[in-house]
This record gives sequence, C-alpha cells and structure tokens, in this order.
Amino acid sequence: MAKLFSYIFLLMIVVLLYQSSSSALTTYNVLSFGARGNGVTDSTQAFISAWSAACASTGPTRIYVPKGRYFLGSVAFNGDCKSSEITLQIDGTLIAPADYHVLGQFKNWVSFDRVNRVSIIGGAFDAKGSALWTCKAGAATNCPEGATTLRITNSTNIRINGLVSLNSQLYHIVIDGCQNVNIEGVMVIASGESPNTDGIHIEESTNVAIMNSVMKTGDDCISIGPGTTNLWIERVTCGPGHGISIGSLGQDMKEDGVQNVTVKNTTFIGTQNGLRIKTWARPSNGFVQGVQFIGAFMYYVENPIVIDQSYCPHDLNCPDQVSGIQISDVTFQDIRGVSTAPIAIKFDCSVKFPCKGIKLQNVNLKYLKQEAQSSCTNVIGEALGLVKPDGCL
Ligand SMILES: *[C@@H]1O[C@H](CO)[C@@H](O)[C@H](O)[C@H]1NC(C)=O
Ligand SMILES: *[C@@H]1O[C@H](CO)[C@@H](O)[C@H](O)[C@H]1NC(C)=O
Ligand SMILES: *[C@@H]1O[C@H](CO)[C@@H](O)[C@H](O)[C@H]1NC(C)=O
Repeated sequence: MAKLFSYIFLLMIVVLLYQSSSSALTTYNVLSFGARGNGVTDSTQAFISAWSAACASTGPTRIYVPKGRYFLGSVAFNGDCKSSEITLQIDGTLIAPADYHVLGQFKNWVSFDRVNRVSIIGGAFDAKGSALWTCKAGAATNCPEGATTLRITNSTNIRINGLVSLNSQLYHIVIDGCQNVNIEGVMVIASGESPNTDGIHIEESTNVAIMNSVMKTGDDCISIGPGTTNLWIERVTCGPGHGISIGSLGQDMKEDGVQNVTVKNTTFIGTQNGLRIKTWARPSNGFVQGVQFIGAFMYYVENPIVIDQSYCPHDLNCPDQVSGIQISDVTFQDIRGVSTAPIAIKFDCSVKFPCKGIKLQNVNLKYLKQEAQSSCTNVIGEALGLVKPDGCL
C-alpha cells in the first residue's frame, strides 16, 4: 500500500513539473501596452514596448495581437534577447499610415534584426502602397523609394506562417543574412502594375524554405539574390508577377554565389516570366550552381523558361559587357503549359562563361495553339525525354 502511495505521489510531482514547464510561456498582449485595434490610435510604441518586455523575459514568450486594425508606423524589433523563443501571434490587421511619405522615409515598415527562434503567426500587413506606386508612375521625381513591408536580417530559426501582405510600397518580405527560415502559407497581394513589389526576396541566407504560398504582385514573386544556399520552394502559385527569379546577379564585381536551389511544383498564371535566371552583362566573381526546377505549370506565361545573362530592364544604363557569372547544373524538368510569346525557352548565356550542365527533361510548352520555338546562345547541356520546343540542346 505504501509503495502504491509513493508511486501516486511521484506521478503527481511529474504532472506538476510538466504543468509548470508548459505554463512558463509568458504572454504579452499588446492591448496591455496601450495598442488599440480601432484603426486610428497609433500603436507603434505599444508594439515596441511589448517586444521589449518579451525580449527581456526569460523562457519562451508570446506577443499577442488580438483581432482589430492596428495603425502602425515603422517598427524595428531588435534581438540579443534573453527570451529563448518569441512567438508573435497576430490575429489582427496592421495598417500603415495613409501618407506614403511617413513610411517612405524608412527602409522598412516592420523589421527584425539579430533575432533567434522567432515565429510570426498570422497577421495581415496592409502597407497602403498604391498612392506611392501612382507617384512613381507619374511625372513627379520626388517620390520616396518606399519601405519594405517585412525585413528580417542576420537572424536564425525564423518561422513565418499564414501571413498576408497587402500592397507593399516596395518589397513585401526580405530575408537577408539569415539561417533556417521556414515560410509557409503566405499570401502576397498587390497590383500587377506595382513597381518593385517583389513577393519574397532572399539573399545571403542558408536553409530557407518557402511552401504553399500564393503571390500576386507587380515584380518577381520570389527573387533569389547573391549568397543564397540550400533554398527549397514548393507549391507556390505566382501571378500576376514576373515569375520566380534567381537574380538579378552580377550587380557587383565581388559577389557571393547562389547554390543548391530547388523549386518544385509551381504554377504561373499570366506572368511575364516563369522560371528565370538573370544576370547583368558585366564582370563578377558570382556564380549559380545546382538548381532544380521540377514540376511547373505555365498558364499563359510570356517567357516560361529563361536564362538571361544580359539582363537590363527598360534598356536603361546597360553595362553592355560580358557577364562573369558562371551558371552550371540547372535542370528544368516536368514543365508544361502555354507561352504567350513564340519563344518559350530562351537561354542567352555569357560568351566568356557559357552555361553548362543545363538539362531539359519532359518539357511541353506551346505558343498559344501553335508550336513554340526555343533559342540558345552559349549553352552546353542535354535534352531528355520529350522536349517541346526542341532543337536548343
Ligand atoms: C549582418 O551582420 C554583419 C556583421 O555584423 C554585417 O556586416 C552585415 O551588414 C549584417 N547584415 C545585415 C543585412 O544587416
Ligand atoms: C540542398 O538543400 C537542401 C534544402 O533545400 C538540403 O536538404 C540539402 O542537404 C542540400 N544539399 C547539399 C548538397 O547541401
Ligand atoms: C503539384 O503536385 C500535385 C500533387 O501533389 C499534382 O497533382 C500537381 O499536378 C502538381 N503540379 C505541378 C505544376 O507540378
């Protein structure tokens, strides 16, 4: 009997210990710091105070943003936190100031720098960028460049889940200098005419995954910059937009390479490009090595498959030299659909560093209801299985 009681006693202690460890998660509700979800009250300081409190506490913490519309200026969440793990749970909508000059004077709307183990769950970010796009499209020369909606720099173990980014002034999400980033179920929405509103831009980052996301925007749905390694993209739908692009690269003479990128099961709807690698025509020590584009459906895409090593949008200030970027081991596999321009596959590689190890496998693209064409300059590679249009490799 005594033995049974001591067992029960032990069990109770275990349960108590378990409860205390799981309830160690401290929640900071932004409302207790003065935020108001009425769409009017400036909640910037309240968000910063909630972050400071979470950051300074020990153990895992949660910052909670209840339903409502929160008027928010530029906020920077800085790291070197005591807290082992911070979850920012946003059930509400964040609203940027209507006057684009207010955010436009900052580089970012919401930024995280030097953080570790941070999750951003939910949240709609309404940057109200359309007035700035109109300014840029007009004759005015004094429009600000605009702010990126969400920028995460020099951080590790980041999770972004279920975020909606609406009408960013500039890029929607930027991941720069990060390791282990998981982006899932993100939705980006902006006009197909909006300038430089890339959906997600990655650079100088390792082990990044982007899954199950939808991007409708005016520039690249995903752009992959220098120093990106081990990137995995799967089940992403793009359009309107300029496609999924590696580049532009070769902006600088000294540049980190792009290595080991997988882009799987993507859908492009009415986009300017599908799967693209773009580099400026100038010397650079950068490179692209090991890219797998596997499984893509192109629905009325202007340029479904592109490698462009003399990239120069709008033909303005083109360097007109030869690209120094060596592109190698790139596979385009299981790609089908319809191109709206006659040339569905275009490889225009560097004369000094021809593309090598380029593989086309089971590609079936039409030009509307006709046969499409392909065009190849300075490419070494092979075609496997059915490849239409053929004749390139
Ligand atoms: C990251 O940190 C390094 C070293 O401190 C710094 O040189 C770099 O500019 C930082 N990157 C970003 C994007 O802030
Ligand atoms: C390539 O990246 C994937 C993640 O996207 C990773 O699992 C794999 O190990 C990497 N391969 C190499 C050779 O580093
Ligand atoms: C994506 O994967 C699903 C199954 O998971 C498949 O039915 C669909 O055809 C794939 N789409 C593309 C574009 O590869």
